[in-house]
Amino acid sequence: MDLLEKVVALCKRRGFVFPGSEIYGGLANSYDYGPLGVELKNNVKKLWWDKFVHGRDDILGLDGSVILSPRVWEASGHVAAFTDPLVECKSCHKRFREDFLENAKECPECKGELTLPKMFNGMFKTNIGATENKESVAYLRPETAQAIFINFKNVLDSRHPKLPFGIAQIGKAFRNEITAGNFIHRMLEFEQMEIEYFISPKSDWEPIFDDWLGEMKSFLQEMGVDLSKVKVREHADKERSHYSKKTVDIEYEFPFGTKEVYGLAYRTDFDLKKHSEVSGTDLVYHNVETGDKFTPHVIEPSFGVDRSLLVCLLEAYKEDGQRVYLSFPPKIAPYKVAVFPLLANKPELLKGARAIYETLKSQMVVAWDDRGNIGKRYLSQDEIGTPFCITFDFQSLEDRMVTVRDRNTTKQERVAIDRLPEYLQNELK
Ligand code: GAP
Repeated sequence: MDLLEKVVALCKRRGFVFPGSEIYGGLANSYDYGPLGVELKNNVKKLWWDKFVHGRDDILGLDGSVILSPRVWEASGHVAAFTDPLVECKSCHKRFREDFLENAKECPECKGELTLPKMFNGMFKTNIGATENKESVAYLRPETAQAIFINFKNVLDSRHPKLPFGIAQIGKAFRNEITAGNFIHRMLEFEQMEIEYFISPKSDWEPIFDDWLGEMKSFLQEMGVDLSKVKVREHADKERSHYSKKTVDIEYEFPFGTKEVYGLAYRTDFDLKKHSEVSGTDLVYHNVETGDKFTPHVIEPSFGVDRSLLVCLLEAYKEDGQRVYLSFPPKIAPYKVAVFPLLANKPELLKGARAIYETLKSQMVVAWDDRGNIGKRYLSQDEIGTPFCITFDFQSLEDRMVTVRDRNTTKQERVAIDRLPEYLQNELK
């Protein structure tokens, strides 16, 4: 089994990620997050929001709609240009993105002949209202960014930020992907964490772009990613999106090849100008000190939530003899600590452990386990990445101390029950 297969199996077994619509035979490129997956996901999103929104003075949040006016996507260029070249095998009828194939002449599955490429728009279409016609067509957003551009004026008028400033958003995006997805790397429905960072057109954009590249790498590092597996690749002119003057992919050495995790683009004033033109609403910034009015330019760091999770899981997966553990940094671990009574059939041990569980629960996310033996409980907490396990035993009744076991080292130490909150706060930092 390669690393990806092991991670996929662990995700299913322990409740992180399940194949989408599984009881109906599955739906390609779709996945559901289980009880632990949703905790991990929420922790990753919180880490991002704390770092980039609450942790800075120059970024404000937004939560825009998934369905926007169809005119948004006409103005942004997505109706015309959000396309990929689709080819189909004439023998096995499988479909591929031509630009992802090493040999665009033959089918990578059965070596059959491929059709000529046909441009295929990646936006999911839907209809608003009871009748389906040209006027009722709407799209599920393929990127969260446009909700930020169309609310630029609302944010300026309501919050009066000064340039440079950013607007950040976390939310779902949808793409009708043609190719196989490599687990949660490429899905039909996924989440993005995006920032549109508005700057003056007169400012030197390149150092700001480089600063954002540093911020993106530092976020990966905070999630426990080894930066020696991270590469930065600049898009060639042919590959770059229609709105961008410079784009780099932040790539990671996945088991299935070095592929994009995040993207960083200099979108110039393309989007605000287009929305001004098409909507007729002036999307300009007014510098009250100098009297200047202008359309800001934009640097866009775009982070995928699901790809963040995949990288976290791959980086955290460790084998240590018979033991498998996830070495998540405490901030993103689904549970921070697990509490056990040594034996589940001894009421005095249950009572002591339960009291600790209730106390800690008001301060952090805590797991309770009283099934099986203590060794099995340790192994099961290791597999879901719980940094510490606490056991209340017979001696605890005498000395008011418990055994605390460290997930990574498996070392155990005795800690006074009264000191547990302080001890854990320090260790989990
Ligand atoms: N607003 C710019 C934008 O959407 P992108 O490079 O197409 O740029 C940004 O997407 C990020 O969204 C990617 O770096 C990736 O993390 C994530 N992403 C894109 N398509 C995805 C898919 N089909 N499944 C999972 N994540 C995806």
